[in-house]
Amino acid sequence: MSFNMDTFMRQLNFPRHFRWGVATSAYQIEGGAEADGKKPSIWDAFCRMPGVILDGKSGVNATNHYFLWKQDIQLMKELGIKTYRFSIAWSRIFPDGVGEVNPKGVAFYDALIDALLNAGIEPMITLYHWDLPQILQEKGGWISRDTVSAFAQYAQFCFLKYRDRVHLWITHNEPWVAAKLGHEWGVHAPGLRSNEAAVIAAHHLLLSHGMALQSMRPLATQSQKLGIALNLNPVCPENPSREADIQAAHKYELFLNDFFLKGLFKGVYPTEILAEFPALSRAIHPQDMDLIHTPIDFIGINYYTRTLVNTGGVVAPQGNPHSSMWEFYPQGLREIVERVWNDYHPKEIFITENGTALESESLVDLKRIEYIQAHLIEIHKLLANSICVSGYYAWSFLDNFEWAHGYEKRFGLVHVDFGTYQRIPRSSALWYKQVINNNSVEI
Ligand code: GCO
Repeated sequence: MSFNMDTFMRQLNFPRHFRWGVATSAYQIEGGAEADGKKPSIWDAFCRMPGVILDGKSGVNATNHYFLWKQDIQLMKELGIKTYRFSIAWSRIFPDGVGEVNPKGVAFYDALIDALLNAGIEPMITLYHWDLPQILQEKGGWISRDTVSAFAQYAQFCFLKYRDRVHLWITHNEPWVAAKLGHEWGVHAPGLRSNEAAVIAAHHLLLSHGMALQSMRPLATQSQKLGIALNLNPVCPENPSREADIQAAHKYELFLNDFFLKGLFKGVYPTEILAEFPALSRAIHPQDMDLIHTPIDFIGINYYTRTLVNTGGVVAPQGNPHSSMWEFYPQGLREIVERVWNDYHPKEIFITENGTALESESLVDLKRIEYIQAHLIEIHKLLANSICVSGYYAWSFLDNFEWAHGYEKRFGLVHVDFGTYQRIPRSSALWYKQVINNNSVEI
């Protein structure tokens, strides 16, 4: 007897206004590092340090999007993308972090936004995707409260400029990564190695988010949505029946998830972290926690994998399929969203990043399709449980500069040739186009 597989095909329909998107960030795609008055960011400076980036690469040219943005938007349009999440390079707008505005930088994003709207694509702006103006780093960076007020000014400036056309705003992308990888592990800019610096940077990042919201909110309309994007993962003990591993997972989760969620939604930090870092308590001024607790319209969740921990720290899971970076663990997306929804009651959730790097450069990226499909199935389950997930942004639209990994890890739905800058949509891009077009996932 033979089966016709079609009989078993099912369509998972998504809500009519579900926002299907792709995401990128400025330093990872733009290039044009010194074009039109832009000054260096901490990533420009970090990449110049020997040995920190694979093969000594940098984002100096990246995908050359600063010069190819028109064709990139055209390609998005052809793929039926409904919304595009990108970040603004702070040092294009304020080359010195504060003070004098660079009109050419402002004009770049002006034109980009107009072109997106003309193409029927809704822009979502991220104000900070890790590229602090280097000059502010030289004055202390995220360890200094001056950077906090500089960010609030920059945020308000951008909001005033673009608010007439942009409704979706994210203050910070993954403040945990900026704090931990940049200030404790030293593998991201600015390359510091102090656990105390990491928690203080995290506090200042959150505080700058709160101050930015305070400066933007009075200027916002009802239809404008302001939020933040966190990288959240379920943290699991390697051996769930070993008490020491359970404790280690709990401790790891305190900073990865709880610090940011409790700070934003409850206006407090985990007591264990405050007890461990007296310098953090000293850095918290009266009113800081109220500012951090300023209401947000949505939370963006960036999800790639879970974190597995034992007493020695993070371990690589065995067993499940892996990408060249991480384990595939789609149910973790549902687990973390459910937890955030039930414990913190956000008004709305966007999945602001999800995707995978693959080993090969191939245009036929069936594993990526499998990965995205599996995560969309989990989102569908969340929607069926009336959890308000309003959109999904695949990371990433293009292959790009993957931070310390240089150009080796390719996350793009669209392949980029880094010699010619030619773009070619992969199978996943064409598959995603179908998903968007049908507003459903076939399984
Ligand atoms: C992050 C960043 C992206 C990365 C992506 C893949 O989540 O770390 O937001 O810039 O490129 O996540 O690692």
